Amino acid sequence: MSATQEALKERIKELTCLYEVSSIIVSADIGQIQETLRAIAFSLKKAFQFPKHTEVAIKTSICSIETGSINEPLHLTSEINVFNKPNGTITASLNDDKSSFLKEEKQLLDSVGLKIGNLLERIEIQQNETSLKRQMEHADRLGILGELTAGIAHELNTPLANILGFAELLKAEFEQHKSVSEDLDKIINNAIFSREVVKKLMFFACEMPQEMNQVNLVPSIKNSLALLDASFKKSNVTYKVQIDEEELLLKADTIQLTQIIFNLIINAIYFSPKNGVVTIEALQSKESIILKISDEGTGLSEEALEKVFQPFFTTKPTGDGSGLGLSVVHGIVASHKGEISAKNNQNKGATFTVKLPKSH
Ligand SMILES: Nc1ncnc2c1ncn2[C@@H]1O[C@H](COP(=O)(O)OP(=O)(O)OP(=O)(O)O)[C@@H](O)[C@H]1O
Ligand SMILES: [Mg+2]
Repeated sequence: MSATQEALKERIKELTCLYEVSSIIVSADIGQIQETLRAIAFSLKKAFQFPKHTEVAIKTSICSIETGSINEPLHLTSEINVFNKPNGTITASLNDDKSSFLKEEKQLLDSVGLKIGNLLERIEIQQNETSLKRQMEHADRLGILGELTAGIAHELNTPLANILGFAELLKAEFEQHKSVSEDLDKIINNAIFSREVVKKLMFFACEMPQEMNQVNLVPSIKNSLALLDASFKKSNVTYKVQIDEEELLLKADTIQLTQIIFNLIINAIYFSPKNGVVTIEALQSKESIILKISDEGTGLSEEALEKVFQPFFTTKPTGDGSGLGLSVVHGIVASHKGEISAKNNQNKGATFTVKLPKSH
């Protein structure tokens, strides 16, 4: 074959490779990125002048693949960039010392690197969209649940007040009658319990009246901790406070703010192992005051991560919890125009983060 013919053959191989890589990328299944990169690597290997002696390696932040072992002394490398930031490399190596790479082969490597970068960008965009969609669906569901709950709570409020009122009247009348009086006590106690549940549901639905004042979060935390001291001791759990500033001012209803702190710390204690440490952190960003409560417990399952803020979701044994604590917290935070999120720690346990608007 003449030199021109040889060169032409090489160009055809390179163009075929680019075409193949494009087709692979177009039909790529985002869940199977490893397979896609492998197909690209083998397609690229074929395009080199000496395919038998050439190996290709693709390294990205998601995964890496090699067609064979890479020969360090003789290799070409191109960067893979994702949104203009280096994310990995694509390398071709020759394990035959007598040959060398062609100038066009470096260009081919660059082009394929660029295409892989585009693919990774597409994946990132799609992942962000999916997570945004899930967040919105979640917020939507809580919103609908809130409206439903508000309705039910209102409907139950009046009859419950009646049950309680009339039972108390009867109790006064039957004071001498021991067994009737005991039965009436049961009615009264159950009505009071139900009223508490209704109250919590109204918190969740942001239907509780509130008195907004300028409050300093730091003493609120310290007072709550003083009141919860016995609970910590009883469960053999200790706490660590990380607050750098003496004043973190926000606009809030003082009682409701305490309810947020209480519910989160009580959960952290409950789910802590023996000798576990609960960390309470408070800080400020430009616009918000941030409260973080983390523990060293079991953390949250997939299901729990999705449902923690829904009323009646609980993993506690029956009788131990109503599953309303975090829905109350969620309602209060929402009515303060704040945000709350739950996530698992890298090591162990969970962290709840509350963000509330600063008082200006
Ligand atoms: N710190 C935590 N670690 C692990 N799981 C948690 C934590 N906090 C909450 N959860 C999970 O979220 C569920 C709901 O919490 P929530 O406070 O709403 O209700 P509860 O604690 O179960 O009952 P209640 O607060 O009414 O006594 C818990 O049952 C648990 O599964
Ligand atoms: Mg709770």
